[in-house]
Amino acid sequence: MAETYDRVGEVKAFDEMKIGVKGLVDAGITQIPRIFHHPPHVTVTNPTKPSSTVVMIPTIDLGGGTFESTVTRESVVVKVREAVEKFGFFQVINHGIPVDVMEKMKDGIRGFHEQDADVKKGFYSRDITKKVKYNTNFDLYSSQAANWRDTLTTVMAPDVPHAEDLPKICGNIMLEYSKQMMKLGELIFELLSEALGLKPNHLKELDCAKSLSLLSHYYPPCPEPDRTFGISSHTDISFITILLQDHIGGLQVLHDGCWIDVPPNPKALIVNLGDLLQLISNDKFVSVEHRVLANRSEEPRISIASFFMHTIPNEQVYGPIKELVSKQNPPKYRETTTTEMAKHYLARGLDGASPLLHFRI
Ligand code: OGA
Ligand code: NI
Repeated sequence: MAETYDRVGEVKAFDEMKIGVKGLVDAGITQIPRIFHHPPHVTVTNPTKPSSTVVMIPTIDLGGGTFESTVTRESVVVKVREAVEKFGFFQVINHGIPVDVMEKMKDGIRGFHEQDADVKKGFYSRDITKKVKYNTNFDLYSSQAANWRDTLTTVMAPDVPHAEDLPKICGNIMLEYSKQMMKLGELIFELLSEALGLKPNHLKELDCAKSLSLLSHYYPPCPEPDRTFGISSHTDISFITILLQDHIGGLQVLHDGCWIDVPPNPKALIVNLGDLLQLISNDKFVSVEHRVLANRSEEPRISIASFFMHTIPNEQVYGPIKELVSKQNPPKYRETTTTEMAKHYLARGLDGASPLLHFRI
């Protein structure tokens, strides 16, 4: 049975402290507050494959982003199409972003979250139009249970922020990382366009690669990891997300009804499709559910999710791509905007029903 208590009051009290989940850990708690308790039927469900074979998302070598011949590029497109159709997720290696930039990015984000709490408080906000903000659980007031995670969210493109607008401790590396990420994003959107049977620039011309927000997460060690999550099961709102995760692990992807682990690889970046791409591809590509288990290690877990999606507010209209619909395959979604989708996301919380249902014809 659900616990009955003044949830809204407890959520508000936690939010108003502006200390995040990390602040609770620093205060020395040994039990997590009940606002973080997920129902037991959710936390214990971890169906594993009956066979002993470990299923892994595909790893695709991008050869540094410069393909030697069209054959190589074509073979990459084939791999991308297969990965996306089968898993909705793949990892890329030789993606062009230097490992030292990735390492410095993780260090910078760890530094942000571990600096003086008063400096972080200055960035604390839930204003969806704010371009630089720190908070815990963007859906704190709408979800049924909170997650063990704090996040710094920054809009990095198309308007590139000045270093002074970003947190001092990580601003420069965020700018460098984002510059490189924009290049990789363009390449991935070209490959995805080709995998959809469209011309290479199609998704770029729809401005899918134009806007980037970084969600820089910090998952502190959790004293009761079986009662909560790092991020509950969800699909991403973005066109695509490119994730950098550190060595701790905990990311899982839903595949054929089972959760499969995405083990850390310091050289790889993880690519997944979001709901906006599923909508414009008219379900040809799907955004797959994933989650992060609460961190049971003694160290914090750091991850940086690069969300390719427009900054709110944005009124650009998106619907199923004309070339991908026909009489036999009519549009499955009505047209919408990123702003409308984001509002719907926020109102429903991460743990609600699939947000795409709301836009289905
Ligand atoms: C996300 C997400 C996974 C991770 O930010 O949407 O799924 O490993 N992140 O942090
Ligand atoms: Ni996600």
